[in-house]
Amino acid sequence: MTTVKKIALGNNGPLVSKLGLGCMRMSSVWGGATNDENESIATIQMALDNGINFLNTGDFYGAGHNELLVGKAIKGRRDDAFISVKFGAIFYGGQWLGLDLRPIAIKNFINYSLVRLGVDVIDLYQPCRLDNSVPVEDVIGTVADLIKEGKVRHLGVSEITAAQLRKAHSVHPVTALEIGYSLADRQIESDLLPTAKELGIGVVAFANTAEGLLTGDMKAPLPANDYHTHFSRFQGDNLVKNLEKVDVLKQMAKDKGYTPAQLAIAWVNAQGEHIMPLVSMSRRSRLPENIQTMDIVFTPEEMSKLNEQFAPGAIVGSTYLQR
Ligand SMILES: NC(=O)c1ccc[n+]([C@@H]2O[C@H](COP(=O)([O-])OP(=O)(O)OC[C@H]3O[C@@H](n4cnc5c(N)ncnc54)[C@H](OP(=O)(O)O)[C@@H]3O)[C@@H](O)[C@H]2O)c1
Repeated sequence: MTTVKKIALGNNGPLVSKLGLGCMRMSSVWGGATNDENESIATIQMALDNGINFLNTGDFYGAGHNELLVGKAIKGRRDDAFISVKFGAIFYGGQWLGLDLRPIAIKNFINYSLVRLGVDVIDLYQPCRLDNSVPVEDVIGTVADLIKEGKVRHLGVSEITAAQLRKAHSVHPVTALEIGYSLADRQIESDLLPTAKELGIGVVAFANTAEGLLTGDMKAPLPANDYHTHFSRFQGDNLVKNLEKVDVLKQMAKDKGYTPAQLAIAWVNAQGEHIMPLVSMSRRSRLPENIQTMDIVFTPEEMSKLNEQFAPGAIVGSTYLQR
């Protein structure tokens, strides 16, 4: 395996790997089964060994389980890792109850995160969403205070609008924007991505395979008990039409000798030096195929074909990203 190269996260930001490791699926977020812990820890360590230093977690992933896992994996090698933590989501019994972004809550959250991770400082700390329950100035101002105190190194934000991004950045410089982005979800290209670029903010792009739609493995109709069926993108005629679009990706993958998922990740990677694909991997066997995506090159013709087939809005129906 080649070592994953480093990029600056945002203008003159910290050096992080061009590919990030999403740890979310190593824990039970929605009440499902927890992944094999030993395999998860081995996956994180193998990622670090191969130059992937960007580790993404959230204090609500598995109600703290995910941070404990990351803490175990980086024990004795803190400096090899760049730890990105989201806060603010309140889950109970696998159900999303809402956000708690009060300054008093944030100060409480970080105390627990630092202990669970076994570190003195979190590299990137970010509200998982923003709403109108607490003024943006207070949420961002609290993280700015934590930066002054030395408990946090950089401010991040996640799943917000271009206007919210500008507002947050005016309170304290934002280092990174975490956002869902894939061939199937390109709506952010009209305003959010240009805003991030203009402000010199790095982009951490998750859900590159659009919840499995772009892996080429999905078949219509999905079983009724499949969680995807909650969203109209994966229902009835929508799914049939969407999978027809994916056929082009499947054929291109076959011709180039990769999998459709690899091409989906490679497409995100190719969108700019300031864009990092953030990919969930819960087992070591995923690492070689995903590290390989960093070397995939598209010809201009291939790129045009994908951009045409997956023009913004081409994939029909909604998903949890709600754009
Ligand atoms: N800010 C937010 O709102 C937000 C929301 C969701 C997620 N995230 C973060 O972003 C990360 C990634 O998001 P995600 O899990 O939704 O999307 P993802 O990276 O597309 O992962 C979805 C699934 O794709 C599988 N996968 C990975 N590489 C693959 C490959 N080469 N071929 C086929 N399948 C592959 C993984 O399977 P295995 O588990 O079997 O390896 C995973 O279960 C999360 O871990 C989390 O840290 C952030």
